[in-house]
Amino acid sequence: MFNSSSTSLSFVFGLTFLFFSCQSKESNDSSTRGLIADKAMVVSARVEASAIGLQILKQGGNAFDAMAATELALAVAFPFAGNLGGGGFMVYRLADGQVGSIDYREKAPLAAHRDMYLDEDGNVIPGLSTKGALAVGVPGTIAGIYEVHQKFGTLPWSEIIQPVIHLAENGVVVTEKQAQRLANNRKDIIEVSGEQTLFAREFQAGDTIKYPALAETLRRIAANGADEFYKGETAQRLVAFLQAKGGIITLEDLASYQAQWREPIRFDYRGHSIISMAPPSSGGVTLAQIMGMLEPFNLAAMRHNSPNYIQVLTEAERRAYADRNYYLGDPDFVEVPINQLIDKSYLKSRMASFDPDKATLSSDVGHGELSIIESDETTHYSIVDQFGNGLSITTTLNGAYGSKLYVDELGFFLNNEMDDFSSKTGVPNMFGLIGAEANAIAPGKRMLSSMTPTIVEKDGKLLMVVGTPGGSTIITSVLQTILNVVEFGMNMQEAVDAPRFHHQWLPDHINFEPEGFSSSDMEILKAKGYKINEGYTPIIGKVDAILVLKNGRLEGGADKRGDDTAEGY
Ligand code: DON
Repeated sequence: MFNSSSTSLSFVFGLTFLFFSCQSKESNDSSTRGLIADKAMVVSARVEASAIGLQILKQGGNAFDAMAATELALAVAFPFAGNLGGGGFMVYRLADGQVGSIDYREKAPLAAHRDMYLDEDGNVIPGLSTKGALAVGVPGTIAGIYEVHQKFGTLPWSEIIQPVIHLAENGVVVTEKQAQRLANNRKDIIEVSGEQTLFAREFQAGDTIKYPALAETLRRIAANGADEFYKGETAQRLVAFLQAKGGIITLEDLASYQAQWREPIRFDYRGHSIISMAPPSSGGVTLAQIMGMLEPFNLAAMRHNSPNYIQVLTEAERRAYADRNYYLGDPDFVEVPINQLIDKSYLKSRMASFDPDKATLSSDVGHGELSIIESDETTHYSIVDQFGNGLSITTTLNGAYGSKLYVDELGFFLNNEMDDFSSKTGVPNMFGLIGAEANAIAPGKRMLSSMTPTIVEKDGKLLMVVGTPGGSTIITSVLQTILNVVEFGMNMQEAVDAPRFHHQWLPDHINFEPEGFSSSDMEILKAKGYKINEGYTPIIGKVDAILVLKNGRLEGGADKRGDDTAEGY
């Protein structure tokens, strides 16, 4: 089965942390069934992180304690996207049904300005918002997880971080996929961080990478809390490092950073209540728009991934992304008309132009232009604890290894999240997204995100915790995973593994994953006027999700596309 071992950590922790395998597969399950557990589960991009999260739960901690441990363990085991130098969003549902969310998204430095990536002729300078010190937004991760722990945690902060410090000291074994990612990015990392940087070395699958500098940083954070990162020795060393590299982040930027609790987006879909992230992520609003437009259609009567199904999703996605790119930005800086955008009658009117016989033209739908490049350089993890709390967390450095700027003395990569702003109206960012005024750069502003950590309720009870990386494809990957369960009755692992497709208004074409779609179905779509991206199409998303089964047990969906792993007990 997919990555569902509970024993592979023994090499890291030795006997002290030997895990007992209390996990089982239901005997009558199909071969695509995910890990089943009775009480609690963590699903993340790496076995080491899932296992540490589960260990915290077994120690009696709750999902919020496990969040801090899992997030930091991802920074060690999955430096591609796990981070101390990035940011993220978390949506929660307490066992008693209360919901909420926290935004620990990066912010533009106070010295940032609207035209900071333009040359004197007003053209975007290639690479400036994606590589090196100027691309870095003020990191939010430590503030986010510390704030969560202050509000909801039960175990001592320093105790939660101990297993992560052990992991950093003892090292992490490189997987095949990780070796490939490191090789793909090595040249850029060296260009930005120098020949002496840790990842200048050529690591092979099976090698162990140790992180002594990160262990030291974590030890100080364990002792001093978030102040260590934002005001303490770590802050001082980080700012000195960044300034030496030409960056503009100051001690004032760090000291003034605060994670924000935000009201999540909540909407109904066919007897389910969906809870997702509000701006500055576009995830929840855009998901609500798409699902609102889909609700009147009988999707369950369509064959899964059939031309009719692809068509109706495409048309809803087209219309929702046109709105996303125009209206959404940081709500602390711009007015976002959330209620109008997710109003069911507005959404009905948006779909009024839908014609089942032929494709709508994106040029007839909305503003701007964009092109898309998919990748999966963010990471998502899902947690359900033994008390019934559900947490959905997506965290990112933005690009692969962020800005490629590795702070060797502190042991972590820094984000390139500044590229999620619109550097210049009409010019696409690294995901091909073209923003509008709402997402222009301003000092202290948060850049628009697509991250969509989401929770689904049915009959007032927790049903699913779901999310994924994938840039602008995040929203449509979360959408399809929910529909796979709710409309097509798939189990969690099947829903995660099922082939995905994506449309985002402009460019006006549908992207399909390389496997799983038939050429005859493509021909039917083409005959109706749909354009298909015939070029290189990589995987779309890496979903990590948990489903609460009818018998109350939990099923993990750990995406087969990565090294993702479910751990439970
Ligand atoms: O916040 C966002 O929407 C992006 N920074 C996410 C980046 C991402 O998912 C990278 N992987 N494709």
